Amino acid sequence: MNIKLMKSPKVGNSLLVVFTCSDKIKPENVPFGNQFEINGSKEFLKELKDSGEISGKKGEMTLLHSLLIENFTFNSQHLDEKLHPKRILFVGLGDSKKADNETLRNSAAQIAKKVESLSLTDFSLIIESSSLGDVKESINSISEGLMLGNYSFDEFKTDKEKTISINAELLVGEIKEEYEKALEKSLITSSASIKARNLVNRPPNVVNPEYLKDFSIDLANQNEKLDIEIFDKNKISDLGMRAYLGVAQGSTADPYGIKLTHLGDPGNKENNIWLIGKGITFDSGGLSLKPSFGMIEMKSDMSGGAAVITAMEAISKLNPKINVVGLCLATENMPDGGAQRVGDIVKSMSGKTIEIENTDAEGRLTLADAVEYAKQNGAKQIIDIATLTGAMVTALGHGLIGAFGNDNNLLDTLKASGEITGEKIWFMPLDEASKKQNRSKVADIKNTGGRPAGSVTAAHFIGEFVGDTPWVHLDIAGTAMSSSSKGWIPQGATGFPCRTLIETVLRLQN
Ligand code: BES
Ligand code: MN
Ligand code: ZN
Repeated sequence: MNIKLMKSPKVGNSLLVVFTCSDKIKPENVPFGNQFEINGSKEFLKELKDSGEISGKKGEMTLLHSLLIENFTFNSQHLDEKLHPKRILFVGLGDSKKADNETLRNSAAQIAKKVESLSLTDFSLIIESSSLGDVKESINSISEGLMLGNYSFDEFKTDKEKTISINAELLVGEIKEEYEKALEKSLITSSASIKARNLVNRPPNVVNPEYLKDFSIDLANQNEKLDIEIFDKNKISDLGMRAYLGVAQGSTADPYGIKLTHLGDPGNKENNIWLIGKGITFDSGGLSLKPSFGMIEMKSDMSGGAAVITAMEAISKLNPKINVVGLCLATENMPDGGAQRVGDIVKSMSGKTIEIENTDAEGRLTLADAVEYAKQNGAKQIIDIATLTGAMVTALGHGLIGAFGNDNNLLDTLKASGEITGEKIWFMPLDEASKKQNRSKVADIKNTGGRPAGSVTAAHFIGEFVGDTPWVHLDIAGTAMSSSSKGWIPQGATGFPCRTLIETVLRLQN
């Protein structure tokens, strides 16, 4: 999808898309009477409205052919040209007062799918402030919806469905710099989210730790302002990351630590945030082997890492005035003869000893060392993102990211960002009672806390290593993958919460 802003549409365009709102359709006018007049067709359109075919209700689509449009007026701009698009598509948004970012994003995704099913290569879409509100926000949401809704993953299909490249023109009447900026930002954030989806959707025999490392090196090479450092097995060992290495030791694939840096405020090192993504490229469970039905989704166990790596590229492009470090300690969790045993005790980078009660609780082990590394290197704020617990899916299902943390400002910023991006966040507790469940009889802490409050004890485990540093943990086990396509969210990898991380960093800059 190529999206650009236009003052007015190309005459003779193949499709013109017009939003309608249920509360704007009045008996005395045709739905779009305030936007333009359609030559000689008023009665015809009124009939469509009276018969209920154009009502403006959410999700409604009405496709008409060959209408000559005169007197085109929107956003207080009057256009002299007559328009004669081959087709005109009316798309209902429902009540305009309730039409928010999410409504526009979903409608735009619906439009992208319709255009594709019509095999069209270009279309124009009217962005009109009187029904949509703030134009730059509308541009952002619509562009994201077109990009994210147009996504499909067929890299591994031999007979690919022919994908046509679609040119979309957003008609804004007048082109302002702030509009261009909004479009540019949306293209950067949605491209990042799409890259994250691809990383997660690709199979685990392709996306292994080495692949994530090479992918990240490529990103850093393509983006001048994005720095990279790679930790190989020797370096990981020298750093003392024995909790991370314990997870990696059951696999023939070498682990790689990936550290990406955006130096947005070089003079003020304290102005920083660390984004730490879980990077288990395949989670078999290790010796505490998962049942087959639970293993099929485990190529997605690097979704947090994918979101961090791709968000870092977007962040370096958007260049906020804050130092951001993205860290992903990538490994497989496999059960070979050298694998970590149940009952092993490992010494983490922090010096704390950990009893391994279940090798399938591997994410928190890698995160414990990542958090310690961040603290030793001056982290002032930390967000970790992980497909951490099945219990998170039980608690919140597939529509909400669970957020745990010790800092209300960071929690609130993430939540507000998620409201804007549509990657919704729900606050979860870190109560003292469940913290006790992680106590070990033989080591400083153990890596499972039993069945009750499984996502809370997992968060507590990470919290033990975080200490007082402002921190939020996002458990994305329920939201990284979607079983079906819903609006701008495709079946398969969702790209969550890549765009929310970017938005949060932009809001935290100073
Ligand atoms: N990667 C899984 C969590 C997961 C489950 C993610 C379902 C996405 C969908 C994690 O490593 C795991 O296995 N967690 C265990 C922890 C338990 C052993 C304490 C779980 O949730 O069962
Ligand atoms: Mn696991
Ligand atoms: Zn896992």
